[in-house]
Amino acid sequence: MVYPATRLRRTRQSEWSRRLVAENRIAISDLILPIIIIEGENRRESIATMPGVERVSIDLAGEIAANAAELGIPALALFPAIAPELKSTDGAEALKVDNLLGRALTRIKRDVPGIGLIADVALDPYTTHGHDGLLVDGRILNDETVEILCRQALAEAEAGVDIVAPSDMMDGRVGAIRQTLDDAGYRDVQILSYAAKYASTFYGPFRDALSTRGLLKGDKRTYQMDVGNGDEALREIELDLAEGADMVMVKPGLPYLDIIHRIKTGFGVPTFAYHVSGEYAMLRFAAQAGALDYETALLETLLCFRRAGADAVLTYGAIEAAKRIKAG
Ligand code: PBG
Repeated sequence: MVYPATRLRRTRQSEWSRRLVAENRIAISDLILPIIIIEGENRRESIATMPGVERVSIDLAGEIAANAAELGIPALALFPAIAPELKSTDGAEALKVDNLLGRALTRIKRDVPGIGLIADVALDPYTTHGHDGLLVDGRILNDETVEILCRQALAEAEAGVDIVAPSDMMDGRVGAIRQTLDDAGYRDVQILSYAAKYASTFYGPFRDALSTRGLLKGDKRTYQMDVGNGDEALREIELDLAEGADMVMVKPGLPYLDIIHRIKTGFGVPTFAYHVSGEYAMLRFAAQAGALDYETALLETLLCFRRAGADAVLTYGAIEAAKRIKAG
């Protein structure tokens, strides 16, 4: 059938009809809110490169968590901004059950039991060199790092995490973490693998938020993926699934929709996207300059993640998006 019998504009003529033929929607249940935590009580700090996002103390994070739960957001991803004096070359602070992250997990789990808690497994918030693993003679050691990551994951489980999210890109860490958690009786702690994580410049504002940008020695290209590679992402996914990942993530998000699509069609597993700090900042700064409307652009972005095949999206705009979705 061709024009004039076929007119694709017909179904677009009214709101009800457009709704009827809509193929994808973004729902509040697809959103994950990242929160950046600092020490103290009733403390909040703005982040120059992430307008609208603040570092907050645990008590305020609890309020945000309650608000998110009330809106119907299923889960939070907690990131600790660690004080410089607690950082070390081996990131030992990461292994303490009652470190900043651990206390945040325990408190929010107690006060807002209905919301899922996700935490990164990686050493970068805790190391003086800003790398995700052990740095020895200018090299990131893989297997030695994996051993430490297993202990970090265990500490997070003890603190009350629901989903550990290895974001370090070491080889073999998903299987090792699964084994460690199972041996300790944490069989139901889920693993969300940052499986296809690229060595991206879009993490810049996040590194400001955690004050790791200035610390980072060199770059992360010996463990994070080459931006131009696609087949390799599928191999990363395949391995992480074989090792026991419950869900996989693609990161960054928007410039990598092809990767999300290939993973979702190829594996049919829960596939998450991280709408990372630099992508969020682009929307905010463009809106500040009057180039676009922040919330409208955010909602369009999130819908495009769904169209590409993402089941859920981590976004710093989760609260505003949820409110917009709720308002209809
Ligand atoms: C650290 C980590 C990073 C992000 C999440 N976990 C930064 C990095 O790998 O350097 C980035 C998140 C964002 O940019 O929003 N393992």
